[in-house]
Amino acid sequence: MKTFKILGISGSLRARSYNHLALKAAAQLMPEGMTLEIADYSAIPLYNQDDQSEATRAAVERLRAQVAGADALLIASPEYNYSVTGVLKNAIDWLSRTTPQPFKDKPVALLSATQGPVGGARNQYELRKILGGLEAMVMHKPEIFMGMCQNRFDDKGELTDAATRKLLGEQMVALQAWIGRVALSPA
Ligand SMILES: Cc1cc2nc3c(=O)[nH]c(=O)nc-3n(C[C@H](O)[C@H](O)[C@H](O)COP(=O)(O)O)c2cc1C
Repeated sequence: MKTFKILGISGSLRARSYNHLALKAAAQLMPEGMTLEIADYSAIPLYNQDDQSEATRAAVERLRAQVAGADALLIASPEYNYSVTGVLKNAIDWLSRTTPQPFKDKPVALLSATQGPVGGARNQYELRKILGGLEAMVMHKPEIFMGMCQNRFDDKGELTDAATRKLLGEQMVALQAWIGRVALSPA
């Protein structure tokens, strides 16, 4: 059986990000045949079409190559002010101007962790719209909205909530199947 390479992308860059921790938990809960690498795209500057500096091009190309080389993306993001975080949208904007555009036909699973009660749902539906415009293949279910996420992780950053662990494990199994389904779908 082929091992699927999953690229984890956090919509939050801070070191203690719950979404980053959720990606690490997903790596532990993946079934056999899946591996996770978490992208570090913090070197990508604010989008400016005029910025064609070597450093910028290298930072964008690094993430583009990671997305292009992954069998699927797992995007974990909080919502900022009811929407997608600026850093994540900024990175997507940069990649959307590269050729070949790496989100096209890419299987994607979404999850969100927020310290508010709604769990990032508003951000996820915005992300679905954005990724739909880029022709990504976003998995429909299970949806994961980790509301009040501070209560689901312990002080060491481990995801301890049993129901959330179960759901995340189920989402990883579903993603494995989704990659196979997308591969079979006509272009
Ligand atoms: C600029 C900003 C806007 C935020 N807006 C929301 C929001 O609309 N809804 C929400 O549930 N939480 C919101 N939060 C709180 C986040 O849920 C919380 O900071 C969360 O821990 C961020 O995710 P992270 O831990 O992965 O960095 C906001 C936080 C920031 C910094």
